[in-house]
Amino acid sequence: MHNQHIHSITIVGAGTMGNGIAHVCAMAGFPVKLMDSSEGQLRVALQTIKKNLTRMAEKQKIKPIEVSTSLARIQTYTNIKQAISDADIVIEVVPEQLSLKKLVWSQIEQDIDPKRLKQTIFATNTSSISISELAEGVTHPENMIGMHFFNPVPVMSLVEIILGNKTSEQTFKTVELLTRELGKTPIRVHDFPGFVSNRILMPMINEAIYALHEGVADKEAIDQVMTLGMAHPMGPLRLADFIGLDVCLNIMNVLHKGFQDAKYTPCPLLREMVDKGHLGNKTGRGFYIYEV
Ligand code: CAA
Repeated sequence: MHNQHIHSITIVGAGTMGNGIAHVCAMAGFPVKLMDSSEGQLRVALQTIKKNLTRMAEKQKIKPIEVSTSLARIQTYTNIKQAISDADIVIEVVPEQLSLKKLVWSQIEQDIDPKRLKQTIFATNTSSISISELAEGVTHPENMIGMHFFNPVPVMSLVEIILGNKTSEQTFKTVELLTRELGKTPIRVHDFPGFVSNRILMPMINEAIYALHEGVADKEAIDQVMTLGMAHPMGPLRLADFIGLDVCLNIMNVLHKGFQDAKYTPCPLLREMVDKGHLGNKTGRGFYIYEV
């Protein structure tokens, strides 16, 4: 089945998730416009995509020629208006702050060709922001949807597709098909705090931090229980570092506030580490030490 609706994809935000999404879209054959306000960020993103495509070619997951053909499909922009000029879908991948996401979407609405506004799909990659709330600020909330990708995007096969209270079935169907065309599996969920993924994952990670905090075992032991006993590819503390401890704390706060239930109280050790700036892989220190 070929997607009648999506010919050109614009990705706004070229951080870890943005470059991963650009990678899989380009590999699937779509022209990609990757936008970020920072030239430097765009340069790093292209280098990362090239490195990850090359690794896939070395492991014979793709043909060597696909490294250059995929890269050639990606154009970079610092100007949002140019980046969205012919987009059938805009995938916004800016940091997880409602006010920032709202600002970016209002900018996109201002800059998009008014003739295209009605038919362009607005997808947000979010791990915890309410799609219905974000859609309150846009002219066509029926076109807005959540596409929650997982890190590392080229490896993880899930895309959690989140319907807000006004998202249309047509929007869902188009995005569901696109997700399959990207080689991923779409899973449809509703707009509850943490959706499904983080409602289950984050309390597990938080509980692992409590176990460490209370001295049940050391960090390596806690992680080994979950890797060796439950076949998780990474233990919860290493995974927390990989995700970012600030992101984990933010999601726990969303669950706590959204459900008003004490069982989602973030562990004091998690708060303490975030306060100290020990955020995991990205800062070189979390539960473990990393090279940055
Ligand atoms: N691009 C392309 N390929 C990549 C890659 C990348 N960025 N990163 C890793 N790979 C590939 C490797 O080439 C390797 O391929 P082979 O199996 O063919 O050898 C494979 O992935 C495994 O990589 P490694 O051998 O280097 O290392 P590993 O076995 O330790 O796996 C991992 C690394 C894939 C990250 C694995 O540890 C894992 O799956 N961890 C759990 C990740 C996870 O849970 N992610 C979700 C986080 S939650 C989230 O993102 C959303 C949220 O809302 C918080």
